[in-house]
Amino acid sequence: MTTIYLDNNATTAVDPRVAESILKQFTRGPANPSSQHAYGRESRGTLDDAIEAIGTCLGTRFDQPNGARLIITSGGTESNHLALTGLGDSGSLALTRIEHPSVVATAKWLESQGRPVHWLDVDRDGQVILDRLETLLSQTDHGVGLVSIMAANNETGVIQPIDEAAKICQTFGIPLHVDATQTIGKLPLNPLVSGISAVTFTAHKFHGPTGVGALWLAPQLKIHPVFHGGEQQLETRPGTEPVALVVAMSEALKLAVDEMESSAEHCRRLRDRLEQGLINQHPDLVIQGKTHDRLPGTSSISFLKTDRQSMLMALDMAGIACSSGSACSSGSSPPSHVLIAMGRSNEEVESTLRFGVSKFSTMEEIDRAIVRISNVYSRLRHNKNVDN
Ligand SMILES: Cc1ncc(COP(=O)(O)O)c(C=O)c1O
Repeated sequence: MTTIYLDNNATTAVDPRVAESILKQFTRGPANPSSQHAYGRESRGTLDDAIEAIGTCLGTRFDQPNGARLIITSGGTESNHLALTGLGDSGSLALTRIEHPSVVATAKWLESQGRPVHWLDVDRDGQVILDRLETLLSQTDHGVGLVSIMAANNETGVIQPIDEAAKICQTFGIPLHVDATQTIGKLPLNPLVSGISAVTFTAHKFHGPTGVGALWLAPQLKIHPVFHGGEQQLETRPGTEPVALVVAMSEALKLAVDEMESSAEHCRRLRDRLEQGLINQHPDLVIQGKTHDRLPGTSSISFLKTDRQSMLMALDMAGIACSSGSACSSGSSPPSHVLIAMGRSNEEVESTLRFGVSKFSTMEEIDRAIVRISNVYSRLRHNKNVDN
């Protein structure tokens, strides 16, 4: 039995065209862009071209003095950490309660170091309530140095009102960092047009490799480094740049952007079919975040009268790969802070699983998945009733 992969919010398969480009780079020879010999100069050119190509996908150039910049990192976690610790000087932070753990944990750590954090509430369907942000920033002594709001939630897929948030932040002159890890390559984003100050993304969410990501920075924005000890990337993120990975990220992003519309359409059809197919058989399933626009391929479903860990394990045995809990890591799974922030009942929190399709998922897989998931749910639900 082939496992059907429905965990594309955790990571995606590398696009074969991207894999080819990585292999080509890795077999080209040594590549340290800081070296002053011919190999080094050549890899510097390759790196710069890849970074410019990423800029084109985001509607920015990186070759202007004091212009926008792209800091290459190891992925979303590092970019988020760099943004929260390096921007907004020592002012307090304002962020939603549903941010990814890499943002929440960094904020809590900064709070323990004396940097206050204002937590922004979300509604029952998981979208940030921006009135609270406006009220906060209207206070003359708010002390906020940085606002951080994700572009779409990784669990529910609920798209956040980033353009409105950017307008509010611009009115009050406060930088806005956006964790766009789940939307880059899936939804259009032009940070310059939106008035965003910093954007996090990571290649493995759009069919690139793991281990590489970036933090986009608006023109003139100053950032304090986390690492010290090398002159790479204007000393904001020292360390030898992974040329092959950056080339792969740029290739993956270009493909994702070129195919964005057709992929979104495809993912939406598959996701809707999955939800409808399951609801037809189990009308009391709860689809989280359904009243808001969601990422086309994401579905967060509460399987009432079961518990998510048992469902997850039974689904794995039945050939369905999905995820439970709040972290992208499948190993541990504390109750979802996102669903708790949404005010969902304990029963919903304890029975919710996340499914994510990609452009490589097929309708035939979805039809098989509906049968497998439905059978597992009927069985576990029945067992729980018997236990009770
Ligand atoms: C919204 C969001 N931010 C950050 C991350 C972390 O990215 P990475 O795994 O590249 O560190 C993830 C996923 O893992 C995510 O979904």
